[in-house]
Amino acid sequence: MAILLILLVISFSQAIARDTITQTKPLADNEILISGDGTYALGFFSPDNSKNRRYVGLWYYKHKERTIVWVANRENPVTNSTGVLSISNEGSLVIANQNSTVVWSSRMTTNVRNPVAQLLNTGNLVVRDADADDGISTYAWQGFDYPTDTMLAGMKVGVDFVKRLNRTLTAWTSDSDPSPSPYYFMIDVRGDPEELLCEGSKKVWRSGPWNGIRYSGIPATLTYIGFNFSFINNEQEITYSYNTSSSVLSKLTVNQSGVLQRSLWVEDSGMWNVIWYWPIDQCDDMRVRPCGPFAACNPNNSPMCDCIQGFKPKSPAKWLYRDAMDGCVRKTKLDCKNGTDGFHVISNTKLADTSNASVDKNLSLVGCKTKCLSDCSCTAYAQADVLNGGSGCIIWTSELTDLRVFINDSYGQDLYVRLAAIDLGTVYSQYV
Ligand SMILES: *[C@@H]1O[C@H](CO)[C@@H](O)[C@H](O)[C@H]1NC(C)=O
Ligand SMILES: *[C@@H]1O[C@H](CO)[C@@H](O)[C@H](O)[C@H]1NC(C)=O
Ligand SMILES: *[C@@H]1O[C@H](CO)[C@@H](O)[C@H](O)[C@H]1NC(C)=O
Ligand SMILES: *[C@@H]1O[C@H](CO)[C@@H](O)[C@H](O)[C@H]1NC(C)=O
Ligand SMILES: *[C@@H]1O[C@H](CO)[C@@H](O)[C@H](O)[C@H]1NC(C)=O
Ligand SMILES: *[C@@H]1O[C@H](CO)[C@@H](O)[C@H](O)[C@H]1NC(C)=O
Ligand SMILES: *[C@@H]1O[C@H](CO)[C@@H](O)[C@H](O)[C@H]1NC(C)=O
Ligand SMILES: *[C@@H]1O[C@H](CO)[C@@H](O)[C@H](O)[C@H]1NC(C)=O
Ligand SMILES: *[C@@H]1O[C@H](CO)[C@@H](O)[C@H](O)[C@H]1NC(C)=O
Ligand SMILES: *[C@@H]1O[C@H](CO)[C@@H](O)[C@H](O)[C@H]1NC(C)=O
Repeated sequence: MAILLILLVISFSQAIARDTITQTKPLADNEILISGDGTYALGFFSPDNSKNRRYVGLWYYKHKERTIVWVANRENPVTNSTGVLSISNEGSLVIANQNSTVVWSSRMTTNVRNPVAQLLNTGNLVVRDADADDGISTYAWQGFDYPTDTMLAGMKVGVDFVKRLNRTLTAWTSDSDPSPSPYYFMIDVRGDPEELLCEGSKKVWRSGPWNGIRYSGIPATLTYIGFNFSFINNEQEITYSYNTSSSVLSKLTVNQSGVLQRSLWVEDSGMWNVIWYWPIDQCDDMRVRPCGPFAACNPNNSPMCDCIQGFKPKSPAKWLYRDAMDGCVRKTKLDCKNGTDGFHVISNTKLADTSNASVDKNLSLVGCKTKCLSDCSCTAYAQADVLNGGSGCIIWTSELTDLRVFINDSYGQDLYVRLAAIDLGTVYSQYV
């Protein structure tokens, strides 16, 4: 009889695979939520298989090898198996141990009358009002607003000025410790916004600005199949997101070595395939700044740094020894009288650092040139948006830094560098 009862209890508990947490049904350490379509699971886990460091995380339910893509209490584990994830009557999610010591709680902005938490098919854990229709805009809280180290399809990274959110990805400290490391990924909203990978306060890599189709410095985006990318830049938000067709499972992660990588799930081999990562080559590391200002980096050249036309090495002696970090200086001062300077086009570039650049979405390329010529401090201009024949204008008024060129003609963009008329025809003779 007792055995029958136990069997009944077991089969009953298996039958009630659920995707929601209510006030009467919190989630205990030995339970999991499974998204409706069975893609994601959410529950307690230990990264080091110990019993005394338990985190609430999200993983792919069907994958044999567990990949954690989101962690709620990444800084405060529960120290034994008595942890419970529950929802308060105002709608806050709370992780507490047996003695009700709270180790984590979600920051609520609005109160919900009859709150439930639900794990959606996208992997988003949301809090909503059970009585309201579950329209997407009505989530009182969503895990997607607080990413860990991984960006999933449908998630937005970047800044929401209205909701006061700044969604960044921060790497785990180590394989066994999900607490934040100094490596993080964010959208830099200054100037013409760019993606930035940082190590503490240091820039490590930048994507270049969004050009309507992709980031100026990530040409590989062109080869992606089954993806849609979106970049929103307005008064309310500056965010980046992507979607994939249902047959494609992809994630973007900052890993423990500070590498930003996009992976695709390969069903047949049951493995993640890294299809793109930073660093691609030496040109990309901003901590090193291999080429300095007004020099372009081309990893296929030797030496890889070259002054752009109209510029010469700032420190010729160092340059001779292939130390190009001081960069280059103008051969001839700009005249700066309206219209007398000219422009040299550098094709296939990852546009120079745009954190100090300014953008006028309404100007054409011709208008952009006029604007640059009429401003003595303007050093270069480029088209902001390459879609539909092109529109918008980026103006640089500072040094041109972190400039690189791509060898493939279909990559990169034209950068118009301002030069004194006399430097327009000349070609810089290479120092070897
Ligand atoms: C679990 O940990 C909490 C907090 O340290 C402690 O109060 C509680 O007694 C522990 N429970 C068990 C069963 O070990
Ligand atoms: C936790 O609760 C248990 C009984 O529920 C009690 O024996 C123990 O002292 C408590 N521990 C702490 C740290 O409060
Ligand atoms: C967003 O957060 C990152 C990392 O803390 C920070 O460097 C950046 O300045 C923040 N952006 C805004 C707009 O607050
Ligand atoms: C992805 O899909 C969601 C939900 O349908 C939508 O809100 C979002 O705008 C889409 N993003 C892209 C990049 O297509
Ligand atoms: C991408 O966007 C197009 C046009 O809006 C849509 O037809 C297509 O289904 C989207 N694909 C994905 C993978 O979201
Ligand atoms: C991070 O990713 C890079 C590139 O895929 C890889 O070489 C490196 O081993 C990874 N580091 C860790 C700690 O997984
Ligand atoms: C942007 O301007 C600030 C202040 O003038 C300067 O310190 C910084 O180096 C500039 N950044 C770039 C990328 O030019
Ligand atoms: C840009 O053009 C739009 C429509 O043509 C107009 O509403 C807007 O005010 C213009 N913005 C600027 C900064 O001139
Ligand atoms: C330069 O010329 C343009 C068009 O010819 C004019 O709009 C602008 O005001 C002039 N700027 C200066 C500084 O003279
Ligand atoms: C250049 O890029 C395009 C688009 O990705 C690709 O089709 C072509 O094969 C590339 N050419 C070279 C020489 O790599």
